Amino acid sequence: MTIRISVLVSGGGSNLQALLDAQDAGALGPGRIVQVVSGNKNAYALVRAKEHGIPAIVIDKENWPDPADRNRAILSALRAAATDLVVLAGYMNVLSPEVVQAYRGRMVNIHPALIPRHCGMGMYGMRVHRAVLESGDAESGATVHLVDEGVDTGRILRQEAVPVMPGDSPESLAARVLAAEHRILPQAVAALAEALEATKNP
Ligand code: GRF
Repeated sequence: MTIRISVLVSGGGSNLQALLDAQDAGALGPGRIVQVVSGNKNAYALVRAKEHGIPAIVIDKENWPDPADRNRAILSALRAAATDLVVLAGYMNVLSPEVVQAYRGRMVNIHPALIPRHCGMGMYGMRVHRAVLESGDAESGATVHLVDEGVDTGRILRQEAVPVMPGDSPESLAARVLAAEHRILPQAVAALAEALEATKNP
C-alpha cells in the first residue's frame, strides 16, 4: 500500500532532497513522492524534482495573483495526484483554511527552530536564527509539526535540538539547524505515512 506524497517547495529544496534520498534508501516507509508543487518558478527544488523524475508544477503569485484562485489551483493539483500526505518543505506561502482542512492531520511543515520558541507569522529563514542568537538561547533546533489554520501552531511530531555555539553567526547556526531538519523530516514523514497506511488498511 503506497502513501502518495506531494511536496510543496519555494526554494533550494534541500529538504525535498532529504526526502528523495530517504525514499531511495527505503527509509520513507510506504511514502512515495509523486509530485512537487512550487510557489516559485525559479526554485532549485524544481531541478531536484526533474533530476529525480518527479512531476512538478509551478503555482506562483505571478500566474495566480489572487490568493483564493491560487489555493484552489493547489488543492486541484493535490487531488489530481491523489495525494494522501502533504509536506511543506521550505514552502513560503500561507495556505488557505480550505486547503489545510482538506488535509487535516495529513499535512506537515518543517520549521527551523524549537517550537514554541521563535515561530509564528514572519518568523522564517535567517530571521529565526537571528532571533535565537539575540535571545541568548543555549540551543535551537528543528521541528516537524502538523499544519493547522495557525502559523507554526499544529501538533508537534518530532524535534531535534542543536547547540548554539560561541561565535555562531545566523548562517552557521542555520547550517547546523538545516542538518537537523534533513534528519527529522524524513523520519517524521515515514512515521506519519506508516500511521496513515494503517488507517487506510484497517
Ligand atoms: C529551511 O531552513 C526550512 O526550515 C525552511 O526553508 C528553508 C529552506 O529549505 N522551511 P529548503 O532547502 O528549500 O528545503
